[in-house]
Amino acid sequence: MAKVKSKVRLDKLIAKCTDLTRSEATRALKNGFVKLNNIPQKQGKTMVDLKNDVVTFDDEILEYRETIYFMLHKPKAYVCAAKDERLKTVLDLLPPALASREPFSCGRLDIDTTGLVILTDDGTWAHGITSPKRKCEKTYLVGSASELSLEDMKELEEGVYLDGDDKITAPAKIEKIDAKTYRLKITEGRYHQVKRMFEAVGNMVKSLHREQIGDLILDEDLAEGQWRDLSTEEVAFFN
Ligand code: URA
Repeated sequence: MAKVKSKVRLDKLIAKCTDLTRSEATRALKNGFVKLNNIPQKQGKTMVDLKNDVVTFDDEILEYRETIYFMLHKPKAYVCAAKDERLKTVLDLLPPALASREPFSCGRLDIDTTGLVILTDDGTWAHGITSPKRKCEKTYLVGSASELSLEDMKELEEGVYLDGDDKITAPAKIEKIDAKTYRLKITEGRYHQVKRMFEAVGNMVKSLHREQIGDLILDEDLAEGQWRDLSTEEVAFFN
């Protein structure tokens, strides 16, 4: 997690807390939209004491955060990317002031997968989730085309060769919920991994939903498309 700063430049604060770029923030300052402790400020280089000063933009108080950490309940039909020519991205689900910080997904989901996505703009922290060395466990609820045999389940747990890869998958855990529903826990993040694992045992994934990453469980109060900030404790899961 990034070090907490005590002071920050006013133009940087405005750019981080609104959907304005740094140069638009400079213009907003010149045009008198910004007040520091109720006094209009025109200088972007003015330092703000984050503990004691109050900054307003167009009379709205701005809450500065150096880095952002949140979970999103991803619906189908959205891609985990910053931009896409044709498709909607997870950033389209966020308010402009948050999306403009261009947070990235810590472990992407496919367009047709739903569930937990963690977003942040803190690259060092994200490493604690995505680095293969950390072996962070991801839990998926899988709807399959047909029932898995005990032998298939054993193979998936012990490791299978995915089409095109020369290394067997790391040990996984699988639990049968019903004939065509399984809970799968994996520690890797290979391309289309769950779908390819089911294909490796002659089955097919019909639906896929991520329930958990490490100790972080998708908040059941979040409907598809909704997001919330992570608590300090939740952020610390991945430090
Ligand atoms: N594995 C997949 O095949 N797809 C996902 O979206 C996530 C894991």
